[in-house]
Amino acid sequence: MIKVSVSKVLSEQINAEYYSAYLYLTMSAYADRAGFKGIANWLFVQSQEEMAHGTHIYQHLLERGEMPSFAEIKLPPITFDSIKAVFEQVLAHEQHVTSLLDNIATIAMSEKDHATYNFILWYVNEQIEEEATADELLNKIKMIGDNTALLFNLDAELATRVFNDPFATQA
Ligand code: FEO
Repeated sequence: MIKVSVSKVLSEQINAEYYSAYLYLTMSAYADRAGFKGIANWLFVQSQEEMAHGTHIYQHLLERGEMPSFAEIKLPPITFDSIKAVFEQVLAHEQHVTSLLDNIATIAMSEKDHATYNFILWYVNEQIEEEATADELLNKIKMIGDNTALLFNLDAELATRVFNDPFATQA
């Protein structure tokens, strides 16, 4: 039996993950239209990962015999000032998501819900890489500055990213 306080924050996290997916989709569209197809690809894959994160929490709630609660997904920003501004927001957003997940872990622990605590630790650990990658990309983009040729080199690098379902082996 899952406590109401735990169920509530897990449902809110489903919404937050789908918001993340929608945010990265708008960023991907912006990058595509700005001519950076590789960066658009990286952001599109990021969006797919966020969908997988949200769906996995949804499935967890159902497995625990709980009805997820659904809420409106807020509208993300739909345009950006620059590619650098996009990655500044990616990093800030991932830092925000980390704080949401830390809060879930804290609530699960205080409610002695070991199943949820164990479940959410995967997400907490994943955030280390999420923040590190966003930080690394932002730093590269800052160093590139106004050098369009170097930005297109990074664009080519990011074109190679492919989506791998992080939960494929857990089914
Ligand atoms: Fe679902 Fe980017 O963390």
